[in-house]
Amino acid sequence: MIIRRALVKDTKGVRRLNRKWKKEYPEAFIDGDYTFKGIRASIKKRQIFIAEDEDNIIGYVKIIVRKRDTPMKRWGLRKRQKFLEVTDMFVKKDYRNKGAGVKLMETAENYARERKIKTIVLSSEGSSGENLISFYHRRGFKINYTRMFKILL
Ligand SMILES: CC(C)(COP(=O)(O)OP(=O)(O)OC[C@H]1O[C@@H](n2cnc3c(N)ncnc32)[C@H](O)[C@@H]1OP(=O)(O)O)[C@@H](O)C(=O)NCCC(=O)NCCS
Repeated sequence: MIIRRALVKDTKGVRRLNRKWKKEYPEAFIDGDYTFKGIRASIKKRQIFIAEDEDNIIGYVKIIVRKRDTPMKRWGLRKRQKFLEVTDMFVKKDYRNKGAGVKLMETAENYARERKIKTIVLSSEGSSGENLISFYHRRGFKINYTRMFKILL
């Protein structure tokens, strides 16, 4: 298995994975599906890395470099200091627990390190629930806030 930057020719493959993710966990897609165009644009902006096994795309991570107008002490950020957001991370079901997720996350971390970016942010609302939180915990992430909800009777 290798990790490499996605190329425009990988757009369909990434979209296929995205569809699988949506099927597995539709609630995570409140803003609608990713379109072919949208994914291609992200690839062109060099925001997507893929995990590939024998020419098969088996996982991907999408990252975006962001800045905040206001400082964020807890994240170690001064005003307008860059940070990295991991917006998507997905590995195909049959390939999970074989190290692809860890490798994709390491790729995102190395990307940040090479650019002297010190903070990585992500929202974890995945299909694997609690497991996912411990997956990130073990990789050094801390919880920033918890989203809560109440259903009114
Ligand atoms: C979260 C997700 C990306 C993790 O991917 P993954 O490929 O299963 O992750 P890994 O295999 O790298 O790591 C999972 C565990 O396997 C272990 N592992 C790593 N290499 C391994 C290997 N060669 N063999 C067996 N296990 C291995 C890891 O140590 C890790 O265990 P730990 O967390 O107890 O340390 C994947 O479960 C997924 O796509 N979930 C659904 C989508 C989702 O929820 N995405 C996240 C949104 S924030």
